[in-house]
Amino acid sequence: MLISALERPVEFEPAVVEADRPDAARFRSEIEAIAEEHRPSRMPFFVRLANMPSEAVRSPTLLGRIHLVYQAAMHATRAAVYHLPHLDAPAMRKRKLLIFVDDDGLPGGDTHHYQLTRAFRRMGARILLDDEEFGDAAEVARHLDGEAANFVRLVPGLYSRSLGPWCVVETLSNDWMRSLADALAVHFPWVVDEPYFAECFAQGVEERHAEESLNVTEIVLRARPDLVTRTLCDAETMAQALDGVWQHLERLLRHRG
Ligand SMILES: [Fe+2]
Repeated sequence: MLISALERPVEFEPAVVEADRPDAARFRSEIEAIAEEHRPSRMPFFVRLANMPSEAVRSPTLLGRIHLVYQAAMHATRAAVYHLPHLDAPAMRKRKLLIFVDDDGLPGGDTHHYQLTRAFRRMGARILLDDEEFGDAAEVARHLDGEAANFVRLVPGLYSRSLGPWCVVETLSNDWMRSLADALAVHFPWVVDEPYFAECFAQGVEERHAEESLNVTEIVLRARPDLVTRTLCDAETMAQALDGVWQHLERLLRHRG
């Protein structure tokens, strides 16, 4: 008896054929491909912010909402790097510590978080959530909605599961920092001199983080090639969620806060 195509038993094919399976040697180029596809500067948020009338951008309410969303997204990643997996050997802890210090160990007890809030206060933002209220990601997410809440809720699980989300965020961060600085500078020319941007650009902090995250992850994946597929899959998920943050911010601009 003939069996029609619909009646034939379904044959499950492996999602990744063995020969196509990404290996540790291809990891860096795969992350760079994901980063290229999800470059924040291609998102309309930055152009819309630059092109808006300055009197609209100077709205304390709008600036406060931009601060809340952006700071929450940054906070989620800064908190989650303390829970990165596979980096527990002493030499790896030393390398992680240098990245923690760049965010949370600035001279005089300063942090990247405080620097960002000071820059927004100086622009006139009505700050909606005080610095020390940025705590547990699930709690912070309750102050957000849409893609921003989704991003903040997603980060702790993804960052603690594999190194891919961290790699892709660090690889993209210089691009969005520069795009944000350029767009804000149209309305607040002095903002590029704010320590949040100026120190980061002068010291090449985000380029260093990108390189270091890829370097340590390559070491891990050479020893544990079984982790490569999960690492890249999580990186793609993180990059898509980050696109959502820029989409959310762009919607804030369209609705003027
Ligand atoms: Fe970074």
